[in-house]
Amino acid sequence: MSIPRITIAQAQHHVGELVSIPGWLYNLRKSGKIAFPILRDGSGLMQCVAVKAQLPEALFEDIKGLTQESSIIVTGRIRAEERAQGGFEMDVEQLEIVQRVPETEPYPITPKDHGIEFLMDHRHLWLRSRRQTAIAKIRHEVIKGIRDFFDGNGFTLVDTPIFTPAACEGTSTLFEVDYFEDEKVYLTQSGQLYNEANAMALGKVYCFGPTFRAEKSKTRRHLTEFWMVEPEMAYADLEDVKKLAEGLICFVVDRVLNNRNAELKVLERDISKLESIKAPFNRMTYDDSVKILQERGSEIQWGGDFGNADETLLTQDMDKPVLVDRFPASFKAFYFQPAPEREDVVLGVDVIAPEGYGEIIGGGQRIHDLELLKKRLHDHQLPEEAFNWYLDLRRYGSVPHGGFGMGVERFTAWMCGTEHIRETIAYPRMLYRTRP
Ligand code: 4AD
Repeated sequence: MSIPRITIAQAQHHVGELVSIPGWLYNLRKSGKIAFPILRDGSGLMQCVAVKAQLPEALFEDIKGLTQESSIIVTGRIRAEERAQGGFEMDVEQLEIVQRVPETEPYPITPKDHGIEFLMDHRHLWLRSRRQTAIAKIRHEVIKGIRDFFDGNGFTLVDTPIFTPAACEGTSTLFEVDYFEDEKVYLTQSGQLYNEANAMALGKVYCFGPTFRAEKSKTRRHLTEFWMVEPEMAYADLEDVKKLAEGLICFVVDRVLNNRNAELKVLERDISKLESIKAPFNRMTYDDSVKILQERGSEIQWGGDFGNADETLLTQDMDKPVLVDRFPASFKAFYFQPAPEREDVVLGVDVIAPEGYGEIIGGGQRIHDLELLKKRLHDHQLPEEAFNWYLDLRRYGSVPHGGFGMGVERFTAWMCGTEHIRETIAYPRMLYRTRP
């Protein structure tokens, strides 16, 4: 009978059984008579126990000579062990070395402290560390939670293009690409404009994909390539957009708390901070937030956009996100619907996360009137021809509508409690980093 192959996460169902686990050597402790290879396989860590007296001599010597990250398949019996990490150990009976990392060229990432640049240069290997695999799993949970939320609430996923002919979020942050025959296209900054068309076809839609911003920002919240989910709803106003944003955040936070407890522990995340994320969130206008910021010593003036420091200052006494709405039209994109009571502010909303994680959602209600939209395009010096198809949405059955964008990396950083969002994507692209 062949020996079943399992993962470390499945070990709990195989106590007392002889099984094989394929993986890599994470660490090794040894003495003359006993060795403890710690195996990792992506699903967890397993301490294995190799006793000299119970193994052929050559095998025991091979185990003792194992090097970090050598690929191995360990066969043995699973035993419940309260003191072990994960609660189980394996008593080794056989061990196959698939590839032994030679001493002459050892695995470059050791338990000692490495600088961030070194780790980023070795990102393809760094991903194997416990902390990085925990972050990857939480990111996965966030993405799955987002999809389940929208799929369960009547939204249809419609993918939007990555090559686009025009700007959505301002011309200063566009990456230009040479297309064929002298044509220029740009990497998408947002699927929103297409989403608006899709919402007129399907009612409630979302797109979810990579997004590009040629921003020369070197902050811990900016990537040049990030993933954004963008819902859009027909027959919706700013209030509907705010409720949707709140619902999404609560749903995904709950998912992470319920399904990724072990990973949050690895990251030493203060879970109580996430447990207090419950609706209703705080709500305030841009006007009020500027007053609060000024009282707290910020130099912001009415008409200025929040800096990172302002966002942190604004939420310093809050244990859940705040929804800030009605921003000055002057620094918002061309498509925002003006507030009915005042021309100089628009029906945009930003959601700012607590604990200094900053803006995680931006969105609002869109202009649905043809003439007003044309005027805004001109005010923003955008070529009307490029947006003619977009103007069609205001010619044929135009309705109030709105939506938002949420950045996966910023959300994941908040869940994980990581300082910088660069660790929340496998291969971050930033101002000074495009490798590996
Ligand atoms: O506020 P933004 O620019 O909104 C839009 O692009 C809208 N068109 C979305 C919409 O209404 N459909 O970006 C939305 C979110 C931000 O709140 C942030 O979470 C994330 O996208 N984001 C970034 N994440 C990482 N790096 C960057 N450079 C980011 N820029 C925006």
